[in-house]
Parts: sequence; C-alpha cells; structure tokens
Amino acid sequence: MKTAVYPGTFDPVTNGHIDIIERALKLFDRLYVVVGDNPQKAPTFTAEERVIMLKEALKPHGSKVEVEQFRGLLLNYVKEKGSNVIIRGLRAISDFEYEFQRAQFNREFEKDIETIFIMTKDDYAFLSSSIIKEIAMFHGPVKGFVPEVVERKLKEKFH
Ligand code: COA
Repeated sequence: MKTAVYPGTFDPVTNGHIDIIERALKLFDRLYVVVGDNPQKAPTFTAEERVIMLKEALKPHGSKVEVEQFRGLLLNYVKEKGSNVIIRGLRAISDFEYEFQRAQFNREFEKDIETIFIMTKDDYAFLSSSIIKEIAMFHGPVKGFVPEVVERKLKEKFH
C-alpha cells in the first residue's frame, strides 16, 4: 500500500489544500493529512479546531484519508507512519525557494524520504489561509474558496 503524508498548518484548510489532497489521492492509496505547527506562526484556530474542520471537509474521501495532529519533527512523524513521501503544494514561483530549502533539509537528514510537489489548480494559485482570514475578518465573501465547514467557523470566529 502506497502512503504519503501531507503536512501543513491548515489555519484554516482552503479549497486549494483540498485540491492538492484530491490530486495526491490519485497517486497514493492512503494519505495522512497532518496538522502541525509552524513555530513562526501564531494560528487563529487551535490545532483541535483545525483537525475538526479538515475531518469534516474530507469526509467524502472515507478511509483513504486520515487526519491527525502532530508535534515535533515532521520526519519523525513520516517514519512513524511507515511512509517515505511528503506531499507539498506549489502555487507560484514564490513558493519554490521556501519549499526547496525545506525539502533539501529533510533529504539531508533522511535520504530515503522524498518530497513530492503537486501544482495547485490555477483558480487557487493566489489563495492562502492568511488571505482568507483577512477577508473573513472584514466580513467579505469566502464562498467557493473554502469548504462549507470553514465558512461557518470563520463566521463564528469573526462575527
Ligand atoms: N492552497 C492554498 N494555500 C496554500 C496551498 C494551497 N495549495 N499550499 C500552501 N498554501 C498556503 C497555506 O495556506 C499557508 O498560508 P499562510 O502562510 O497564509 O498560513 C502557506 O501556504 C504555507 O503554509 P503550510 O502549507 O501550512 O506550511 P508551513 O510552511 O506553515 O509548514 C508545517 C507547516 C507543519 C508542515 C511545518 O512547519 C513543519 O514541518 N513543522 C514541523 C517541524 C519541522 O519538522 N521542521 C523542519 C522542516 S525542514
């Protein structure tokens, strides 16, 4: 069984992330979508809230997708799951340098773990969790850019 790990902050998950997940599911039998914390960021939603939103949004994919929270080094989590693939999404050239550096570091420490990059659909190339939160904060429209559950949670957070 081919498995892969798709890590992110997912604060909150957007349709851009869902697009990457659906593309990854065409390549792998099982995908672990994992909510981690980037030490450079102060998330708006707790890790538990982020997991709940992902689980609800990914329900249609059944047991092919597992959503979990993780703490610590990503490489350790990937090994724990018996996987050797990290999935990352690429939206624009600006993502490349950051992703390249992380992938190279990970390869340096674990030569058997590969990072696979999947390009986001054009429609979502400009999306980010921060932009979504900024729009929601000022009560702008986020419909079509995030799953319904996220739309609801954003309304609750920024009412
Ligand atoms: N559609 C929409 N947005 C996308 C996207 C897509 N397809 N792909 C990325 N993004 C956005 C995210 O929304 C996020 O936006 P934001 O900055 O506005 O919040 C941004 O791109 C990138 O964030 P994300 O994909 O969540 O990753 P990250 O860079 O914050 O990393 C971890 C999160 C958890 C994967 C990372 O911090 C980690 O691995 N932590 C564990 C510690 C570790 O092992 N560190 C060493 C790594 S070498």
